[in-house]
Amino acid sequence: MLVASNRGPVSYEVREDGSLHARRGGGGLVSGLSAIGPDAGALWVCSALGDGDREAVRRGVGEDGVRMLDVPADVHADAYNGIANSVLWFVHHMLYQTPLEPVFDAEFRRQWASYEAFNRAFAEALAQEAAEGAAVLVQDYHLTLVPGMLRELRPDLRIAHFSHTPWAPVEYFRMLPDDIAEQVLRGMLGADRLGFLTRRWADAFTACCDALVGGLGQTRVGVHGLGADADFLRQRSHEADVDERMAALREEVGEGRRTIVRVDRTELSKNIVRGLLAYRQLLADRPEWRERVVHVAFAYPSRQDLAVYREYTAQVQRVAEEINAEYGTPGWTPVVLHVKDDFARSLAAYRMADVALVNPVRDGMNLVAKEVPVVSDEGCALVLSREAGAFEELGEYAVVVNPYDVVGTAEALHRALSMPAGERADRTKKLAAAATALPPARWFLEQLDALRG
Ligand code: G6P
Repeated sequence: MLVASNRGPVSYEVREDGSLHARRGGGGLVSGLSAIGPDAGALWVCSALGDGDREAVRRGVGEDGVRMLDVPADVHADAYNGIANSVLWFVHHMLYQTPLEPVFDAEFRRQWASYEAFNRAFAEALAQEAAEGAAVLVQDYHLTLVPGMLRELRPDLRIAHFSHTPWAPVEYFRMLPDDIAEQVLRGMLGADRLGFLTRRWADAFTACCDALVGGLGQTRVGVHGLGADADFLRQRSHEADVDERMAALREEVGEGRRTIVRVDRTELSKNIVRGLLAYRQLLADRPEWRERVVHVAFAYPSRQDLAVYREYTAQVQRVAEEINAEYGTPGWTPVVLHVKDDFARSLAAYRMADVALVNPVRDGMNLVAKEVPVVSDEGCALVLSREAGAFEELGEYAVVVNPYDVVGTAEALHRALSMPAGERADRTKKLAAAATALPPARWFLEQLDALRG
């Protein structure tokens, strides 16, 4: 069995003394796939992402079961920053807004050639590594052309592709130049099976195929709603470093105050700024919450090579500062914003959250929405966007919001903060049950069985 994804399970950092230090990769894809573990005998083919990874490849350092592809840095930058994260991510999350509109010019075509080369590098590595009849599980929008390319090289293989993002509605998807849109769809249809996180994204993909390439052909489409890993989370969230972070956070928040917690990559689709604006609206409309609540916002830097991400990160910081300047008092900081990625501190915040705010404008699933109720110490009300994939499974027990509606989100925060303890505990139980219905290991096996069956 082989797995292919751009981001792999580890990334390396070169320390000052020249030694290499391995860290766990971030994002929903890695959280889901990490459950496979090295014992499953799978080979995970991924990209070397930074200087540390490239150095690891050069020195021949690596984990068992992982092969990092050192695609030339400029090809990777075009494919990853240029095409995957500036075009395909924006299309599927419908993030283009004036003045940030797509311009599919000669530069785009040049980057597209890199995206093809990047995909070809994966297809060739997989073709070379795979045993006769092996199962190959390709992941995400970085690698949409791999199934078709691999099928040509190795017709004997069983090929699956899984999308960890939403899929764009046909009206939006066809913003891509016709030949490119067709190439993406045909590339994916090279797979035997395609997987999506929700029915909504699967249906959107099918609609694109019906409209643009005459249907799905032989390829079957399935829905596998990745859930939270309850065993891992419950155990990890009670380790000593998490307790330490909790004590420190408690101090920052102030004894007796309520918390509204959010944890995200600093990502346009996560809608962090509107979340802050909704919190400001809450403080304006409901003065009774002033001094009594703190918005704990962890916004971890992501894709900082891209100017729009850097600008968004700066905007998040600016709005948080404005709120603190406007409402803060000597003993109360209304927004506690942290930007340094720290998994133990995220778990500490999950445990102590009274309200979790998950308000993306669009999201494939959103695992934070599923993790918080599992880890929560005393029950937590979930304010959840109806545009997150997780809404399909959790919507019934959450306080649901339209992510664009700042006033509505402020009202939802008030309702969540005011929820009676009994109701909150009851909903948290139901959220946790729904969130763990398909743990990562089973999510993965389900796809493998479907592919082999
Ligand atoms: C999303 C994507 C993943 C990606 C993750 C982190 O979850 O679906 O494929 O790995 O974001 O983004 P990054 O660009 O840092 O890999």
